[in-house]
Amino acid sequence: MMIKADPMLMIPGPTPVPASVLEVLARAPIGHRSSEFKATMKSVYTRLKWIFQTEQPVFLYTASGTGAMEAALVNTVNPGELVLVLSCGVFSKRWAEIAKTLGMNVTLQEIPDGQAFSPDDVAGILKAQSGFKAVCLIQSETSTGVLNPVESLTAAIKQHSDALVFVDTVTSLAAAPFYMDQWGVDIAVSGSQKGFMTPPGLAFLAVSERAMAAHKTCKTPGYYFNFTQNEKNIESGQTPYTPAVSLIRGLDKALEMMQTDGLEAIFKRHQLTQSMAREAMRRLGLALFVESDILASPAVTSVIPPQGVSVDDIRAGLREQFGITIANGQKDLIGKIFRIGHLGAIFPRDMLTTLSALEILLYQSGYRQYPLGTAVGAAQEVMVASHD
Ligand SMILES: Cc1ncc(COP(=O)(O)O)c(C=O)c1O
Repeated sequence: MMIKADPMLMIPGPTPVPASVLEVLARAPIGHRSSEFKATMKSVYTRLKWIFQTEQPVFLYTASGTGAMEAALVNTVNPGELVLVLSCGVFSKRWAEIAKTLGMNVTLQEIPDGQAFSPDDVAGILKAQSGFKAVCLIQSETSTGVLNPVESLTAAIKQHSDALVFVDTVTSLAAAPFYMDQWGVDIAVSGSQKGFMTPPGLAFLAVSERAMAAHKTCKTPGYYFNFTQNEKNIESGQTPYTPAVSLIRGLDKALEMMQTDGLEAIFKRHQLTQSMAREAMRRLGLALFVESDILASPAVTSVIPPQGVSVDDIRAGLREQFGITIANGQKDLIGKIFRIGHLGAIFPRDMLTTLSALEILLYQSGYRQYPLGTAVGAAQEVMVASHD
């Protein structure tokens, strides 16, 4: 077998898993009704509340993020009831797909890829149509790299409607500020393979009193994801069915590390690697798919490749020469953008390496507008300035 550099995941999930988490993941499973596991589970439930910044219960499912999205809707909205979906890309649109599948009456409001919703957009939509049981939106739209201003969007929704507010925080939690209780969000969903630095397989759902009340009157709340079953088990540090014991033990370690750092430091690190990527791309003369820094996700940076350079070639070159994986666009954006992930356990060192390798790939693909080192130099300047 050839000696190769370890693979580097610079995608917006799954994200790298720190060695100390991997070590916990490798331990033999223990019984999920044991007192040792109950203690871990209680710790996880408490720490998850901290991540979501909520005093409300947070449920944990053995599922991916999409499972938590389905859980949000099936538990609170009856078939036939009205749901508004604010879609700005592949993942926010998924709310509509799930709601339709569950027989709900969906109003889908779409804006072009790369754009975010404004409170005025929301006010306009809610003035034109009323009667929504829930409004579903996203904070970080991973397919485009947009960050919606969830605090002001939630305020606008509440001003014009008494609908429940459901937010997909799958790639924004532990990357961008999110304050569930303070902002008045009713359900927020996320998944382990993103900012949580843990492998895929766990989904989280924080639920407000209002959403819980809606659940109590829901006629078709489903079985596996049922809030009542999950609520009953939180106090005793359990889950209703066999959970992914090993992943949960790894998650507890990851959450402990995150608490040691603190949310502010975590947000700052994401902002730094994001700024390094954005400044580097600008200095290289490449167009950022999300122009505004304020509306750009701290989890992922989407870039339009230079004329004549193919996204496939860049990605294949990075993978083959350096073991670095970056993401393609999705659906209509396949081949039109490449996406550099900087979510979870990603550090300036990783970004400097990725940008350096990317410059080489662009050079080899014929893009030689600027000397080698231009992108890395820009990122270095951002880094140095962050210490001033
Ligand atoms: C913003 C967002 N929402 C939802 C999902 C779906 O999550 P999963 O693939 O874990 O079901 C993803 C996955 O990348 C995502 O990025």
